[in-house]
Amino acid sequence: MQKPPLLPARLPKSQVQQTYTWIAPVHDLLAVLVEAKARRLGLQWADVQDGETVLEVAVGTGLSFRHLLAQNPTGWTEGVDLTPAMLRFAERRAARAGHANYRLQLGDAYDLPFEDDTFDLVLNSYMFDMLPEGDFVPVLREFGRVLKPGGRLVQVNMAPGEHPYNSIWEMIYRLHPPLLGGCRGVATAPFLEEAAFTKVRRRFVSQWTFPSEVVYGKKPGRGPE
Ligand SMILES: C[S@@+](CC[C@H](N)C(=O)[O-])C[C@H]1O[C@@H](n2cnc3c(N)ncnc32)[C@H](O)[C@@H]1O
Repeated sequence: MQKPPLLPARLPKSQVQQTYTWIAPVHDLLAVLVEAKARRLGLQWADVQDGETVLEVAVGTGLSFRHLLAQNPTGWTEGVDLTPAMLRFAERRAARAGHANYRLQLGDAYDLPFEDDTFDLVLNSYMFDMLPEGDFVPVLREFGRVLKPGGRLVQVNMAPGEHPYNSIWEMIYRLHPPLLGGCRGVATAPFLEEAAFTKVRRRFVSQWTFPSEVVYGKKPGRGPE
């Protein structure tokens, strides 16, 4: 797959916590409005089977995490995020849903606090769009490390626009990246292939002009490749 040119990342990791601490109370306003469609497709592609061991990296305020819990009532679901303020919203949301078989904790996508070959599924949404392109493959390899052989990775990311009306979001990012939480459009499918994922597929989704992608890959090792 071709790698399209990407805008440079402009939110250094050292500023993520500070930025997402002030974004946390308002995060869901935009997320619900423009990301719901792609998030739904991501959960559909994740295809959680009850009883699985599931990890969401960068769980944020828990908008997807609550669905993972609902789909996995007899399994085990973990969530990590770098920002305590975002995690507090996720904890409240998960507690309201009334499940007990999960854990939410501080954690860094670059160095996940889990053993090798632990998870059937890793879900990761709207985080790669703030990482420098040079970090994509190392972080994807870290996701691959904690996946069981044959495990699935599903990502949902802000994507480069495919229509003129999508470009408003790129303009906002160019003007002041923190307005979009430091997120710009990325296309990660070729990087999944570089990080040795198989069966890679991608779909572009637009909602209220906001461009997203949903990307799927499988860690080799079990089942038909
Ligand atoms: C735009 S929010 C998305 C939250 C959630 N995934 C969603 O889709 O609603 C980005 C999240 O990524 C988290 N994040 C950024 N870099 C991270 C890293 N290296 N490890 C873990 N979480 C990270 C931020 O703290 C923030 O909660």
